[in-house]
Amino acid sequence: MNTLKGLLLAGGTGSRLRPLTYTGAKQLIPVANRPILFYAIDAMVAAGITDIGVIIGDTGEEVQDALGEGSQFDCHFTFIPQSAPLGLAHAVKVARNFLSDSPFLMFLGDNLLRGGLTRLVDRFRQGDFAASILLTEVDNPEHFGVAVVDHGRVIHLIEKPQNPPSKLALVGAYCFTPLIHQAIERLKPSWRGEYEITDAIQGLLDADLPVDATLVEGWWKDTGRPEDVLEANRLVLEDIQTAVHGEVDNDSRIEGRVVIQKGAQIWRSTIRGPVSIASGAKVEDSYVGPYTSIGPGVHIIHTEIENSVVLSDSHIIDVSERIDQSLVGRGVIVQGIRSRPRAVHLILGDQSRIDL
Ligand code: G1P
Repeated sequence: MNTLKGLLLAGGTGSRLRPLTYTGAKQLIPVANRPILFYAIDAMVAAGITDIGVIIGDTGEEVQDALGEGSQFDCHFTFIPQSAPLGLAHAVKVARNFLSDSPFLMFLGDNLLRGGLTRLVDRFRQGDFAASILLTEVDNPEHFGVAVVDHGRVIHLIEKPQNPPSKLALVGAYCFTPLIHQAIERLKPSWRGEYEITDAIQGLLDADLPVDATLVEGWWKDTGRPEDVLEANRLVLEDIQTAVHGEVDNDSRIEGRVVIQKGAQIWRSTIRGPVSIASGAKVEDSYVGPYTSIGPGVHIIHTEIENSVVLSDSHIIDVSERIDQSLVGRGVIVQGIRSRPRAVHLILGDQSRIDL
């Protein structure tokens, strides 16, 4: 089989992650201080895919700036604008010139796969399939594309069914031969107004073409909602190894697996891993607990925080209650008030969320 090309989806609106996505691409939200999209690229390159088309939308400029031309990942990117987020099959259509008649792997840039893509790609290369898909059992199949499998063969696929025929959800990684383009040509928009790749793969099945399916090994996370980002952060931090390169004074305690990047400062604080603290962050008289990522330039002062992700340049100071399960954007100020009368002052952007 010819070398596979890659198609990485980094468009979309990220509506479920507002307000963070008003000012940035959802795929660039970091977990363990690295954009989610970078893990996707690593997985593609590890599977031997280095000629990668990147579908971009409204946030295209930011995505291009973050990725560069590819040398930092040992691959080459071609950026392909999609005028509107009209579905995964539409993204393939938009990339038709780039893909030419190559087989390809499509991967959703907001998906994280612990087990990587190598097994999926190898099975596809070695077999004789029109498509290979990845599946995993979920408790809420109505939110995904769902597969019916019989003796290891996919027999039916349906996008976001009201009455799911199985619990096997389609994970956002697919291998295709060029036959998929004909199936896409025949598509009509779904009830949500999108050209669904699930329907295109069903088109391959209707034409009696073989579609291979394998179950995900390790975990898979679609990071569409804030709670998913926190969970992805937890899962990725589970794998980190201690590396303390920043400054830690003698009055601080570091427990468990902790990454403290060069240029970070920890004064009179306890850091209990797994935790990642980025360069330029400052933690003073504070507690940073398990499953927390502190971004570059962030200040945590007189505050306790755990199970949380704080993006760059935010300041969290003098907060009297422990901050837990929180996702804080860029340049946010959270300031506790010590003087009386005590009150809560709020200047919040659209669609912010505060639980007091
Ligand atoms: C898309 C696909 C769906 C798949 C999911 C995986 O859904 O349409 O079949 O299960 O990705 O993340 P969407 O994220 O567009 O709702």
